[in-house]
This record gives sequence, structure tokens and C-alpha cells, in this order.
Amino acid sequence: MSEVPSPAAVAARDRHVVLVGMPGAGKSSVGRRLARELSRPFADADEQLELAAGRTIPQIFRDDGEATFRRLETQTLSELVSRHTPLVIAAGGGAVISEENRLLLSEHSIVVWLRGSAEFLVGRTDPTHRPLLVEDPMAAYERLDRERSGHYESVADEIVDIEPFHSAGDDKPKRLLARHIVERLGFDLALP
Ligand code: S3P
Repeated sequence: MSEVPSPAAVAARDRHVVLVGMPGAGKSSVGRRLARELSRPFADADEQLELAAGRTIPQIFRDDGEATFRRLETQTLSELVSRHTPLVIAAGGGAVISEENRLLLSEHSIVVWLRGSAEFLVGRTDPTHRPLLVEDPMAAYERLDRERSGHYESVADEIVDIEPFHSAGDDKPKRLLARHIVERLGFDLALP
């Protein structure tokens, strides 16, 4: 006789999974891999925003400023979490600064914070595509990290420390992280 799935496993199956965290945490690459593990579609919120706007994020920041970008970010997240099919979504690093976004995320999704230290993450981040990090990336990164950590924590259902997965000699951090998240969320991949 097959085991009855736990209520948590059943609930998780019907909700979006949203990855949050600072730039460089691997939200998009781990998200893609996680979506594969869960046989779900993947959506990168930044990519969706750029597609809808017909402009890149640096162009939007340059032409219209951060406030316009944040408004588009909220629209994009709202559209993604209202989709019927459960998705894996990589949110932009600053998605948690708005209370409206935090509510959207917690109402409709399971949120996973990919957490790493500023020293570790800044070295993995290409500032060219991140307008907020162009000048003095380390100082900007530390400031943003300080401002946002409490928000990531408040919205997170699960917190995953990513650095141990990137330890020297391990060439499969994305896959290991994705599998770790599946386990932590109590997804039962064998559910019908
Ligand atoms: C931002 C992070 C970026 C992008 C935009 C703003 C931020 O996404 O949304 O440049 O405020 O930290 P990533 O976290 O994918 O780099």
C-alpha cells in the first residue's frame, strides 16, 4: 500500500517556489535546475520584466530610474505569482524591499532565501548588469545586504546557506543545492 503524502508535501506541490537573495546567490541557475527536478516551468523575473518592457534593466535604470524599475518589478512578480501552473521563480535581488512584493510572495509561494556572505557573493557578481553595483561594488553590496537581510528573513519559509555547496573540489553546486531544496521543502517527487 502506498504511503499517504504529508499535508506539507501536498501543499508544497501546488504553490510556486520563489528563490530570493542577493545578486550572485545563484537564484537563476539553481532555479532552473530546481524546476527541472520538480518538472515545473521556470521563470526568471528579471528576464520576464525585460521582455515585457522591451528594454534591458540597465537601460530602464538609466532612462527612467530605479523607481520605474521597481514598479515594473512588482507588476512582473504579481503576474508570475497569479499564474495557475506552479512555477519556480527567480526573483530579482531587490524584490523584497517592497512590502507589497513581500506580501505577494508570501501569499502565493514558498519562499527560499539563498543566503551567502557579502564577501563570497560579491566575487560571483558581474556589476555590468547590476546598475546598483556599478560604483564600488563591495561597499554597495555590503550596504544592500545590511538593508535587505531582515526582509529576506521575514519572507523566507526556508533559508539555505549556499557557501558549503561551493566548497573547493565540488563541481556540482547547482545540482546539490536544487536537491537540497527539494528535500528541505518536503516535496515528494513520487507523488502522483
Ligand atoms: C537588483 C538585482 C538584479 C536586478 C536589478 C536590481 C537588486 O537581479 O533585479 O539589477 O536590487 O539587487 P539579480 O539579483 O538577479 O542580480
